[in-house]
Amino acid sequence: MKSKISIVAFLALLSFKALTAQNAPQYEKASIDELINAMTPEEKAKLLVGPGMPGYAGLVPLEGEPDVRVLGEAGGNDQIPRLGIPETVFADGPAGLRIEPKRQNDPNTYYATAFPVGTALASTWNTDLIESVGEAMGEEVKEYGVDVLLAPALNIHRNPLNGRNFEYYSEDPLVAGKIASAYIKGIQSHDVGTSIKHFAANNQETNRLAVNAHISERAMREIYLRGFEIAIKESKPWTVMTAYNKLNGTYASASNDLLTTILRDEWGYEGLVMTDWFGGYPGFESILEEGSVSDVVAQINAGNDLLMPGTEAQREALAKAIEEGTVNEEAVNASLRRILEYIRKSPTTDNYKFSNKPDLEAHAEVTRKVAAEGMILLKNEDNVLPFTDKSGSIAVFGDHSYSFIAGGTGSGDVNEAYSISLLQGLDNAGYTVDEELQNLYEPFVAQAVENENKRREEIGLLADNKRLPEMLPEDKLVEAKAKSADVAVITLGRNSGEQFDRKIDDDFYLGQDEVKLINTVTKAFHAEGKKVIVILNIGGVIETASWKDKVDAILLAWQPGQEGGNSVADVFSGEVNPSGKLTMTFPIDYNHHASAANWLGEPVQKPTDVYYKEGIYIGYRYFNTFDVKSSYEFGYGSSYTTFEYSDLKLSTSNFEDEVEVSVKVTNTGEVAGKEIVQLYVSAPANLVDKPTQELKAFGKTKTLKPGKSETLKFTLSPKDLASFVDDQSAWIAEKGTYTLKIGASSLDIKLKDEFEVSSNITAEKVNNTFDLDTEMPVLKN
Ligand code: BGC
Repeated sequence: MKSKISIVAFLALLSFKALTAQNAPQYEKASIDELINAMTPEEKAKLLVGPGMPGYAGLVPLEGEPDVRVLGEAGGNDQIPRLGIPETVFADGPAGLRIEPKRQNDPNTYYATAFPVGTALASTWNTDLIESVGEAMGEEVKEYGVDVLLAPALNIHRNPLNGRNFEYYSEDPLVAGKIASAYIKGIQSHDVGTSIKHFAANNQETNRLAVNAHISERAMREIYLRGFEIAIKESKPWTVMTAYNKLNGTYASASNDLLTTILRDEWGYEGLVMTDWFGGYPGFESILEEGSVSDVVAQINAGNDLLMPGTEAQREALAKAIEEGTVNEEAVNASLRRILEYIRKSPTTDNYKFSNKPDLEAHAEVTRKVAAEGMILLKNEDNVLPFTDKSGSIAVFGDHSYSFIAGGTGSGDVNEAYSISLLQGLDNAGYTVDEELQNLYEPFVAQAVENENKRREEIGLLADNKRLPEMLPEDKLVEAKAKSADVAVITLGRNSGEQFDRKIDDDFYLGQDEVKLINTVTKAFHAEGKKVIVILNIGGVIETASWKDKVDAILLAWQPGQEGGNSVADVFSGEVNPSGKLTMTFPIDYNHHASAANWLGEPVQKPTDVYYKEGIYIGYRYFNTFDVKSSYEFGYGSSYTTFEYSDLKLSTSNFEDEVEVSVKVTNTGEVAGKEIVQLYVSAPANLVDKPTQELKAFGKTKTLKPGKSETLKFTLSPKDLASFVDDQSAWIAEKGTYTLKIGASSLDIKLKDEFEVSSNITAEKVNNTFDLDTEMPVLKN
């Protein structure tokens, strides 16, 4: 009897379902409003909260769990079968598509191209080139069946120790914004999406899920938001990913000021906003705790449309809030609309037949080229580089010469098919490396790498990075090599990634073993009148001042992607003339950064609160204004040739609504090369204090043959000249005299001119946002 009733009930349920499915509007034909109106609270919550992480980092779905389209994806929106709404796929990340190369029961491989890390890309200062990198990445995204690439990442390098700086671009928001914008345009040209992240001020990994960043509105607007503003307005990314941290007491993912007032009302952004993974949860423990939720109501009310990757508890909480009317109905509908608008334009909706065969060969060429262009020649005494003599041998020292680092770890990693080591690169270019050293190093490094991999595997997802201990060859051996080899190369390497910030000792500063290696090699080689070249295979800034005088040349190669060894060899041999420049300051001493005093926050053990007391004085804005010497200044980078700057022309000396600037650059050296030209402005500072100068535009010449010139042009608008004046809630270009400086770096100013602004210009009136939730002194000039 019992079972009879339940069969009847079951049949009734089936026919009810069939009926509702029949009557329900269907995604393909219905309007977005019809779909939203037809949704139950549970369905709404299902669309607003992602389905979890099937397939994440290669986790194969368990039995009974749905298949994933792309193994290694980071997530996506969930499907609503009753209405025919499809799921779409998001995957990381900034240096290329992060998916799993292998799939279950499938002999094929799905490698993606590992491009140079973000900092290396930005060091090119070449927006056209970055757009072409974006185009290559976008093709991989589309051909592997992904709808949105979770990149670019463009948080400001507030401090050199941030463990994720390698994913980011610069200490300067203009550089960050312009590079991000080119990258987005390239990717989206394939009609796939990007997710600009992490919005905003996600500047440390320590307690990243919950740290409360106390930041003045001016520092937010001029430094931490400005890059996003430039990129979002210029390139319209399909999606924005909110940061984990709190801003003045409110989670970024629940900040109405950030997501509605600024992003949507002021900047006119129309796309989709998603959280970072588990954004709004205060810590790992709480994610794992059954039933625990972020403040889903606050997140949706603030304009954070999609909660990623999504938990069942969040869905239940949101469905309940929708049913009971405790979440703003308009906000819910607006978010649903934005999600549906996004799905509508995705390749998934187009039924795009992805090939799983992107043009990896062509992209290898792209990454080789951009990596070489992002390399920075920091030092080149007696023109030791390019090193063109291939007749003798090169003595190659340093573990990382034998284990070259293509990119960082965490979601910024890529599963590439191969990675060209420095040795392979030199070999491909026709150089001979010293065999005895190679035979000693290779087993040592293989063991060190194995130990490190084992340590990381044992810890699992939460593993930090440790550098390899340097092998220290005997003095006698080094002396013998100084006799037999033509030149020495030492590679110093660093790696970092999510969840951990870098350390001061033995990370920012060199370790004792590294110092010893440099000392031994330089002593022996210099005694023989031979040179020592250092290659920096790093993702972020290290200390250089204490040892740079000991060596003859320093090539900052960054983490240059899978063709790294070839890219280094291209610069080493002179095939490519280096033209990268620093997008951040290399300080003499870590503590010289104004942010060092306020880094990570309090209490020290697990900082809950970080105070950005340095205000807008980040990087060169601080060093130049407060006259602090650096080891290598912002904008610095040398070349195998020389350039002359001339013919600076301004369209007006009385600025009304714009000024056009032109400047001629001539290659005065012996070899072809490109030059990055930087335009700085020193503005009158009566209403508010200002840095002595700020970067307002930049450009890069094409390859100029010796004797050839190019004229670069720039246009400055009132907003470019303006500072944010807090007590007027406005961007104001003050009246007075402006000095326009054309520099080869932030300190190497080649030409100057002046123009006047006759009365204060309000470039933009905005809302009053980001009230500080605590008293905090902010550094002023
Ligand atoms: C990172 C994001 C990434 C996401 C998905 C988070 O831990 O902060 O940058 O896109 O994971 O993998």
